[in-house]
Amino acid sequence: MSNGELYLGREQTLVKHFILQKYLERFACIVGSHWDTLTYVDCFSGPWNARSEEFDDSSFAIALKELRNARDVLARQRGRNIQLRCFFLEKTRAAHAKLKQFADSVTDATIEARNAALEESIPDIVDFVRRGGSQAFPFIFIDPTGWTGFEMETIAPLLRLNPGEALINFMTGHIRRFLDSPDEETQDSFKRLFGSGTFRTKVQGLAQLEREDAAVEEYTRNAKAVGGFRLGCNAIVLHPEMDRTHFNLIYLTRNPKGIEVFKDAEKKAMEVQEAARAEAQQRKRVARKGQAELFGSKELHDSAHYESLRDRYLTKAQDLVLRALQSKTRLLYEDAWTLALSQPMAWESDLKQWIAQWKDEGLLEVVGMQPRQKVPHRNEDNYLIWK
Ligand SMILES: C[S@@+](CC[C@H](N)C(=O)[O-])C[C@H]1O[C@@H](n2cnc3c(N)ncnc32)[C@H](O)[C@@H]1O
Repeated sequence: MSNGELYLGREQTLVKHFILQKYLERFACIVGSHWDTLTYVDCFSGPWNARSEEFDDSSFAIALKELRNARDVLARQRGRNIQLRCFFLEKTRAAHAKLKQFADSVTDATIEARNAALEESIPDIVDFVRRGGSQAFPFIFIDPTGWTGFEMETIAPLLRLNPGEALINFMTGHIRRFLDSPDEETQDSFKRLFGSGTFRTKVQGLAQLEREDAAVEEYTRNAKAVGGFRLGCNAIVLHPEMDRTHFNLIYLTRNPKGIEVFKDAEKKAMEVQEAARAEAQQRKRVARKGQAELFGSKELHDSAHYESLRDRYLTKAQDLVLRALQSKTRLLYEDAWTLALSQPMAWESDLKQWIAQWKDEGLLEVVGMQPRQKVPHRNEDNYLIWK
């Protein structure tokens, strides 16, 4: 089956898997160059609505494939022999039976496929990670169907694993609709999700997108604090047919290199997303009108929603950098980079463009660059000076 067939009608999953795959592709090579063991933990494994008999459209199979590729590359190019360890967790019995069938077929990696809920498996996961030894690096993927089962207090021991990184699917579309629910139990469940009740004041009185941003920012802030992560960013995954957010993939790391790799994956994913949305929306129009269209989906696609989101986050990212520049006057390039890239859909190329423009306008100077260097670099003591 082609990717188009595997993800027909669930293009949001295509984008999620694309980001996971692209990120792990480079993550595994980079981390595997320094660490002897890669540990991948899929806390909500599925399979879930998968169509491929080989589970090509399931996160656990996609991840293992990338880890294996990296192991082969590292063996070929560096003579390194890294170990792969995976912990796959799935609560429902039927899905777990398939997960186990997949796990049992793997002979070249250590796999544990557990039939249990995340809430009762944390000590086992931590123990599994620790058994990988001091030269093992864990990546934790949390991909639920709603907002329960991964309460902040529950996942805290996973977030605190250091070394370690996490990718969390924050079901924004779903959460947004219930944030204001008067139901006490729902409100308590949100408090447990966010790890505190402060989210309420953060989202209060805000309209649609402002509200979503505030919720995602608050969750990211709390998860970073709980796990001791210095850095975090997120990718927005849109509804295929409607102009609204389906979920945000929140990425947490302690290493700027991780942000660089994740942002690259996000940038490529946005193109995949717009192409997939164009097709999904054309399919919907054709079904409604009962008549084919003369032009292809790309030609007919209205990307106004994506463009307006990109404008929105570029403005936010630029404001963050400007405010830091104006208050500090002297800002290390990597600090400007971290601020700009904390926003979805904002990339280093955007930051470089603003810097060039501010330089042209005589507002900014870059110091600390080598004689032939044209643009600032990270980790080279390059400073932005606001004049
Ligand atoms: C969104 S799906 C996962 C999809 C998968 N990660 C992928 O991308 O292919 C969520 C899965 O988690 C399982 N699940 C739900 N609650 C759970 C819990 N508390 N602990 C573990 N698994 C759970 C569901 O049965 C479902 O298979």
